[in-house]
Amino acid sequence: MTSIEDEFISTVSHELRTPLTSIRGFSQTLLTSWDKLKEEDKKKFIKIIEEQSNRLIHLVENVLSVSKMNAGVDVLKKVDVNGVIKKIIPIFTEQYKTRTFSLELSPNLPPSRLDEDKFEQIMTNLIDNAAKYSGDGKTVIISTEPEANMILIKVKDEGVGIKKEDYGKLFKKFSRLENHLTSTTQGNGLGLYITKQLVEKMGGEISFESEENIGTTFSVRVPIYNQEEALRCSLVS
Ligand SMILES: Nc1ncnc2c1ncn2[C@@H]1O[C@H](COP(=O)(O)OP(=O)(O)OP(=O)(O)O)[C@@H](O)[C@H]1O
Ligand SMILES: [Mg+2]
Repeated sequence: MTSIEDEFISTVSHELRTPLTSIRGFSQTLLTSWDKLKEEDKKKFIKIIEEQSNRLIHLVENVLSVSKMNAGVDVLKKVDVNGVIKKIIPIFTEQYKTRTFSLELSPNLPPSRLDEDKFEQIMTNLIDNAAKYSGDGKTVIISTEPEANMILIKVKDEGVGIKKEDYGKLFKKFSRLENHLTSTTQGNGLGLYITKQLVEKMGGEISFESEENIGTTFSVRVPIYNQEEALRCSLVS
């Protein structure tokens, strides 16, 4: 195993410990003191257990994408980009009840050539960030449009924005930037690192534009599914 993988695994193990310790602690308190606890405290503790479980799921999914990516098991198929976006939105409306999620999906979108699970992970990371780094009452707009050989997907938020001096750190592993929402929200600084790797692995591109205290837009371009090419590949193999 390379030292980079070693370091990756040890950092991830450390990140797993924090939510697990908290889930164990609050479960033990609930079990041992159930009758003595006030109703509102019970609810508060269960809410923490739920949030920490979500955090673990998010982390584990990101880590699994990395290992799949390294194993090189790419199954690029015909994927309906709009369909994937519509499928995952309810998760965010449930998790971020104080944000509005608005979809501007092109009705004339050709299918794209992607690994559906990885594309879902990409969109999950970008939409999660857009909601997390915006305040209550803000809107996140997710749009799609066809381009020459690509499909352009944008995730636009009205959040804290990214400082120019931080642009170079954004896609680095385990890097979280300093802003007032980073200190009050949870994250491992892995989402964008993984997102960029996944996008590029599937022949796509990722870029962003941002203005401090105005908002950020991430743009992802993914290849259009080309039937002739797919047919040629299946004849060759
Ligand atoms: N839409 C955004 N607006 C403002 N800042 C952002 C946005 N997206 C990411 N950032 C900044 O970039 C950092 C890295 O993002 P990334 O998604 O990699 O990590 P994270 O959200 O902190 O944790 P994770 O995604 O692993 O749970 C964040 O900590 C945040 O400071
Ligand atoms: Mg993130």
